[in-house]
Amino acid sequence: LPLPKDLYRPLRSNSDGVEFGDQKALSALLVEIDASRGAKFFAQPASASMTQKRAIHSPFDGTRVGDVIEADAASLDVAMAAAHRAFSAWGAQPAETRAQILERAAALIESRRGRLIALLQSEGGKTLDDALAEVREAADYCRYYANVARELMRERALPGPTGEENRLRHVGRGVFVCISPWNFPLAIFVGQIAAALVAGNAVAAKPAEQTPLIGFEAVALLREAGVPADALQFLPGDGAVGASLVAHELTAGVVFTGSVAVAQEINRALAKKPGPIVPLIAETGGINAMIVDSTALFEHVADDVCASAFRSAGQRCSALRLLYLQEEIFDACLATIVGAAKELRLGDPGDPATHIGPVIDRGAKAALDDYLARRRAEGSVVYTGAAPGQGCFVAPHVVRLSSGRELNQEIFGPVLHVAPWRAGDFDSLVAEIMAANYGLTIGLHSRIEARAKRLAALAPAGNIYINRTMIGAVVGSQPFGGFNLSGTGPKAGGADYLRRFVREITVTTNT
Ligand code: SER
Repeated sequence: LPLPKDLYRPLRSNSDGVEFGDQKALSALLVEIDASRGAKFFAQPASASMTQKRAIHSPFDGTRVGDVIEADAASLDVAMAAAHRAFSAWGAQPAETRAQILERAAALIESRRGRLIALLQSEGGKTLDDALAEVREAADYCRYYANVARELMRERALPGPTGEENRLRHVGRGVFVCISPWNFPLAIFVGQIAAALVAGNAVAAKPAEQTPLIGFEAVALLREAGVPADALQFLPGDGAVGASLVAHELTAGVVFTGSVAVAQEINRALAKKPGPIVPLIAETGGINAMIVDSTALFEHVADDVCASAFRSAGQRCSALRLLYLQEEIFDACLATIVGAAKELRLGDPGDPATHIGPVIDRGAKAALDDYLARRRAEGSVVYTGAAPGQGCFVAPHVVRLSSGRELNQEIFGPVLHVAPWRAGDFDSLVAEIMAANYGLTIGLHSRIEARAKRLAALAPAGNIYINRTMIGAVVGSQPFGGFNLSGTGPKAGGADYLRRFVREITVTTNT
């Protein structure tokens, strides 16, 4: 395969926005962000029956970002009933009306990007490039699903014999429960909601416990764009709130992004629910692998490996967890990767020069520190980066394994595991990767075209990346999502996503 023309590819989006090469635009963006720095944020459900506030603190320096009032059983019931009532009118709107509301929301997201980025940085610990990419992704979802809905929700005539008229249309299911993760507290939160709403559903949205403030900003913005308040209920809280929503009798569908364990729990809870069969759309994680052979260019590999494994502090479901280096190049390629990793700067997410911010909270840091201590004790840690002493920082680490099979869990942080593989064993290596039973992302660095084609044919994961990073799927360009333990499909940011959010109705009339 030829070398790509552009070896450095910043995260991109299909929306217009700032490019980092453009200093003037970047300076203007920093001014916008600064205007919201230090603002205090607040979030609560519409029908909050409690008054007790919980403070949200920055994972970087512990400052209070704002407060949230969480949903309790009473407010949850009120919200579900209101959403159920609102569903009829909202679902009866022409799809065009709902699509235009989403497009207004996309424009509002872009016009408020300074405030949204400031909050993503303070509440979520996101670096500037991650936060900007996330704002763009949120706007992309709104515009993309608006257009998909225009096409999908169009009533159409189907063929039939003379004297018979067949018409097919798609309608919303009812109240869709949207449960989203803290690692994309704006993009995935908005993506799930936008899909459910534009398909004609009402929504009960539960943000991650760690990031309710950005969720509430997004809900306020969607309402400002024209979503009726009752059709979009905001229900912050812990896992118990999610469990109550899943179990609620008015729940007509669930879309969840998060851990495998919770997805399986939701699946079991839905299966036990009396009444209608409720669909689940789940997107989880993976032990995502990248294979590098001896034809790959080391500098290119190092750049893509560092971005895929360490950027966003490794807190992406798409992130690289397990790197397979061909035996012959193992030591030299690993040395190049470690050299590149040493250049990564950890620090204040508000500083544009920072490459990696903190992990989401103390619990995440403690779990990662614990895991790394065990790896260190067994002598397999071959690189530890430098991290600030305060805040929830975890330095990039490289762990050397003698076989990829030694990694049997997803480590959700900046930890790269490296294992060797032997030339001539490509198919069995892919089979070994597939045996872990995930299927989200996989990468290959190789100049051998037949090998790239072979990987694509074996289809070991939902998203296959050849000679590039394994992160930063762009809406409409790289529909994102996997299978097996990695999720149910359909893919977010893909043309089929909305189909799982609708009922299909065929009307046959004898004329
Ligand atoms: N969609 C994100 C990515 O591609 C992961 O959730 O990195």
